[in-house]
Amino acid sequence: MADPPADTSAQPDASINHAAALAYWSSNPPTVNSMLGGHPQLSRIDLQSSANFLAKLRRSSRTHPPGKPLARAVDCGAGIGRVTLGFLAKVVEVVDVVEPVEKFTRELVAGEGRGLKAVGKIGEVFNVGLEEWVPADDTYDLVWNQWCLGHLTDAQLVEYFRRCRGALVKGGWIVVKENMSTDLEERDVFDEVDNSVTRTDGKFRTLFKQCGLKIVATEVQRGFPKELYPVRVYALQPDG
Ligand SMILES: C[S@@+](CC[C@H](N)C(=O)[O-])C[C@H]1O[C@@H](n2cnc3c(N)ncnc32)[C@H](O)[C@@H]1O
Repeated sequence: MADPPADTSAQPDASINHAAALAYWSSNPPTVNSMLGGHPQLSRIDLQSSANFLAKLRRSSRTHPPGKPLARAVDCGAGIGRVTLGFLAKVVEVVDVVEPVEKFTRELVAGEGRGLKAVGKIGEVFNVGLEEWVPADDTYDLVWNQWCLGHLTDAQLVEYFRRCRGALVKGGWIVVKENMSTDLEERDVFDEVDNSVTRTDGKFRTLFKQCGLKIVATEVQRGFPKELYPVRVYALQPDG
């Protein structure tokens, strides 16, 4: 008997299973190598580009011009705090952290980040998934999301972005830095290894619009190996 036709109506994000994703990440050691899927050498150029991107945003900001550090940011899906330690803590007074895998945040606050935690530079640590995290309104100058949003379904992402929009202070930014699907049919792609979805640029733009966010700057990460997914960073602000 012939196989039934593939169900092309099923969306890739329907395969997301949070328990499986957490099991995958919990089985990984708390290292930069595992945060970057075996490409630890990319961390430096990634962090430098992120710092340049934020500096550019601040140069065109009336509310957050260059000069003193930003008051408060949050590193979302932070892992072991690679972004917190290598970038955010250098340009922000207090950095909160959201990360569901406790083993990773334990490494951050007891390891390299111990001194920063002791002086309050690393603020609150929330050990929950972003789909459950409810930030306080009017709190953050910067909400940084990197290489973690593929763990949320489209519907969860829209709700999450709406909460983040409310959590921004006036003139603040939500930043999204993620791999982009290069699927020839422009579909999102489900990754069975870490149980996440790699979205297309078009999908991200549709989701941003749905939750009332506008793109105020975006660029493609330069200097990464061609065989990897392209990485794009977006800065978002409430639309109106
Ligand atoms: C590829 S690592 C990136 C870590 C960090 N953002 C960085 O750039 O170094 C993905 C992280 O997402 C976390 N994660 C998995 N499911 C998540 C969820 N539902 N909400 C937030 N983070 C999640 C994993 O535990 C892991 O720390």
